[in-house]
Amino acid sequence: MPVLGNKKKTYDTTGLKVPVSLGVIMDGNGRWAKKRLLPRSAGHRAGAENLKELCRNCGRYGVKYLTVYAFSTENWARPEDEVHQLMELFVEFFEKYDPELEQEGIRVRFTGDIASLPEKVRETIAIGEERSKNRQKMQLIVAMNYGGRREIESAVRKIASRVKSGEVEPEEITEQMISDNLYLPDVPDPELIIRPSGEFRISNFLLWECAYSEFWISDTLWPDFGYDELTQAFRDFAGRDRRFGGLSSKEAST
Ligand code: FPP
Repeated sequence: MPVLGNKKKTYDTTGLKVPVSLGVIMDGNGRWAKKRLLPRSAGHRAGAENLKELCRNCGRYGVKYLTVYAFSTENWARPEDEVHQLMELFVEFFEKYDPELEQEGIRVRFTGDIASLPEKVRETIAIGEERSKNRQKMQLIVAMNYGGRREIESAVRKIASRVKSGEVEPEEITEQMISDNLYLPDVPDPELIIRPSGEFRISNFLLWECAYSEFWISDTLWPDFGYDELTQAFRDFAGRDRRFGGLSSKEAST
């Protein structure tokens, strides 16, 4: 069986506060391929290999929830060929790499408008979720046909129907109720979101959930974003003063 990654790595978490919940926008596959005069599909393939590596690294560092942006509700606007290749790659990835994910104790879940995906992809999702449901080390949450606005829209619709039926009064709607009606309410909001490839955008990713996320932006293109930079992002995150709109404990005591 192939082994995930081959470089010797040190997962030293002594004194390192690793995010429990991490989000990653896997951007830059196309530019990675272009730089090498390769087709975009080769960039996505390299991106998929790197996702496998990220899963292993996050699991070993002690991340509990890793949410990755694989396909947005806007990505349908890409050429039909590219969309088709991406869908095939998703299916291939989970068929091919599940034994390695299993070895690492990684449960696979999906978030997004899953019902609108092609049948073969929905089948892969159902199988992947079912066979991995008892794995305990980390959850890999794949955002597929995901849009933050669509997720909020779906939550609002669920709540509105409860208002319509008289079960909930409009005044009773709270932030918590909205969180509870998102696609995966049990998944904690990401403490850190990593966006490679130098773009300073959220691109409709986890809009509700990112209210107090920290961000790590890097110029590295996704297929090249490896262990060293992940470690650097975690070190930086560990040193951040997260005030959630309040004061730091140092300021509060003066
Ligand atoms: C954005 O880069 C990337 C995507 C739209 C696809 C992400 C998919 C993968 C990393 C493949 C593996 C995923 C799974 C779940 C197996 P881009 O193509 O927009 O890059 P560019 O901005 O450089 O053109």
